[in-house]
Amino acid sequence: MAYQNLISEVKEHILYLTINREKALNALNKDTLAELADVVAFANKTDEVRGVIITGAGEKAFVAGADIKEFADYNGKQGKELAKRGQEQVFDAIENATKPFIAAINGFALGGGLELAMACHMRIAADNARLGLPEVTLGLIPGYGGTQRLTQLVGKGKAIEMITTANMITAADALAFGLVNHVVPQADLISKAEEILNLVKQRAPLAVSAAIKSVIAAVNNHNGYATEIEAFGKCFETADFKEGVAAFVEKRKAIFKGK
Ligand code: CAA
Repeated sequence: MAYQNLISEVKEHILYLTINREKALNALNKDTLAELADVVAFANKTDEVRGVIITGAGEKAFVAGADIKEFADYNGKQGKELAKRGQEQVFDAIENATKPFIAAINGFALGGGLELAMACHMRIAADNARLGLPEVTLGLIPGYGGTQRLTQLVGKGKAIEMITTANMITAADALAFGLVNHVVPQADLISKAEEILNLVKQRAPLAVSAAIKSVIAAVNNHNGYATEIEAFGKCFETADFKEGVAAFVEKRKAIFKGK
């Protein structure tokens, strides 16, 4: 797919997405968000994609936030619409995706950039990454789900400290806070994400989707236990369940078909 602000490529069932506005530190303008919405919808509906890695172009920034210059003269109604559209079409769409999204944080992940990383199912940071929600320095608060997802990931006290001070934290602190899963040298960022997705790719796709759905139900208070019971039951109706059990009994590797 050809986009203006994204580089998108599928290789061996992994969709590699690069936010490509390096001169603006990959800030998310309206066009980039629309392209992200499009590519997330594509990733969700095609069996060709089994997992997604999102990173930023260059070595300096993952994404330095929403594009400040674009919303400089917005009023309250426009601000609310910006947040609602972004959350529904991109951030919630990623979180509710049926396959794992990994943010490979290669530098600054600020404001909407950290929110994008937090909407992903997993985060890996380069050791030079800096993470923060600096919106209060602009007289704003995070609008792409940051107050909610940061609280889920690091707890109330640290979330309020990070948001109200606007301080950036290091990758090492992000790891200690549980905000990222792993910290690696920048050169190893994509290979670490691939290592995880290459394991996920060997598992039963419908079970992977059911697991993500159940975990996301837990963090969003959407009847997590009931969601799990329902999803667990449905797994028994899949051909992959029969294949997984047969492979175990026959002491061979399972060949899953996502059915
Ligand atoms: N929006 C638009 N442009 C941005 C940007 C952003 N979020 N972040 C950086 N840029 C642009 C700069 O304006 C600059 O462009 P010019 O060369 O045309 O002036 C270019 O990227 C390089 O940036 P700097 O010169 O500032 O680079 P630096 O190394 O001195 O500083 C930085 C790096 C600390 C990340 C700094 O750029 C910065 O503080 N950026 C803004 C971070 C921020 O406040 N993000 C939150 C945005 S609001 C938001 O996200 C709302 C929401 O939740 C929905």
